Amino acid sequence: MAITGKDTELAKSYLEKGQLVAIPTETVYGLAGNALDQQAVLSIFQVKNRPSFDPLIVHIDSFEKLSLVVAEVPEQARLLAEAFWPGPLTLLLPKQPVIPDLVTSGLDTVAVRVPNHPLTLELLQSLDFPLAAPSANPFGYISPTQAQHVEAQLGDKIPYILNGGEAGVGIESTIVGFPEGKPLVYRLGGLAVEEIEKVIGPVQYLPHSTSNPQAPGMLKSHYAPRKPFRLQEKVDQAAPVADGHTGYLLFDKYLDGVPEKYQRVLSREGDLLQAAHHLFAYLRELDTLNVQEIRAEMVPDTGLGRAINDRLRRAAAH
Ligand code: TXA
Ligand code: MG
Repeated sequence: MAITGKDTELAKSYLEKGQLVAIPTETVYGLAGNALDQQAVLSIFQVKNRPSFDPLIVHIDSFEKLSLVVAEVPEQARLLAEAFWPGPLTLLLPKQPVIPDLVTSGLDTVAVRVPNHPLTLELLQSLDFPLAAPSANPFGYISPTQAQHVEAQLGDKIPYILNGGEAGVGIESTIVGFPEGKPLVYRLGGLAVEEIEKVIGPVQYLPHSTSNPQAPGMLKSHYAPRKPFRLQEKVDQAAPVADGHTGYLLFDKYLDGVPEKYQRVLSREGDLLQAAHHLFAYLRELDTLNVQEIRAEMVPDTGLGRAINDRLRRAAAH
C-alpha cells in the first residue's frame, strides 16, 4: 500500500533507490522515476501497463537544466520556455545521449517540461537526475488530478504518493515540437494555443489519428471512462430512463427533470479554466456512480475549451 504524504525527503529516498513515486503537478499527477535509470523507466511502463512505443515526458526544475537533457534549443523554443515555464507546456527537442532510448521510444527528440508545483519543484531541485513521468493512471484511463485518484488505481504498485492537493489546471500539458524548424502542436493541453501564438506567431496543430504509433497520446481512444460514454454537441434533454440512470457531464447548466446527483456541471459561470480543473474528477465521479452510461456535451471551442473538447472526443472514441 502506498503511503500518502508531503515528505519530499522520503520521496527523494525512494527515487534514489530506483523506485517510483507519484508526484503532483499543476496539470495532472505524474508517475515519476529516475529518467536516467533504465530499470526505473522500465518499471514506469510496467506499473502503468503502457506500451513501450509511447514515449515519456522528462521533468526538470529550471530552464538552466535543459541543456543536460536536450542537445539544442531553437529560438522559438527558448521564447516559449521563458514565457511559460514553470507551466503546462512540454517541448519536443533533440535529445542528449544520456536520455535512455526507452524514455523516447527510440525517437531522437525528448519531451521535456518544468512543472509548476512547489512540492515537485522542491523535490526536483534536491535530486541530481531529472524525472520521467507520464500521467499516473493505468494506460488509456482518465488522468488523476488528486492524490486519492492515484491511490485508488496505483496505490498497491508504488511506495509513495506525494500529496500536493488538487491539480490547479487539471488537464495535461500542451506539447509543442519543431519538425523542420516550424512549431507544431502535438497535443492540445493546459496552455491555450492562443497564448502560444501571442509569443511566436501562428502554429499548426497535428490532428490526432489512430494510426500514428509514434505518439499514442495522439491515439483517438484515450482518457476513457469504463462506462459507455456518448458525446453530443449539446445535451438539452434527459434520456428516457429504462432500467438504470444516465449520468450527465454538462458545461454550464443543470438539466431539468434529472436529480442533481446524476449531473456534473463543469462550470456554472461558463468559465473554461474552471471547467478544465473539474473535467477529470467529474468524469471519474460519473464513472463510479450508479449509472448505466454517461452522456456529455462539448464546451465552447476556444482557449482551454479546445483541449477539453479534445479529451471528450477521445473518451468517446473508446
Ligand atoms: O501534463 C503532463 O504533460 C503530464 C504531467 C505528469 O507532466 N504528463 C503526461 O504524460 O501527460 P503522458 O505520458 O500521459 O503523455 C505524454 C505524451 C504522450 O502522448 C507521448 O506520446 C508524448 O507525450 N510524447 C512524449 N515524448 C514524445 C516525443 N519524443 N515525440 C512525440 N510525442 C511524445
Ligand atoms: Mg497520459
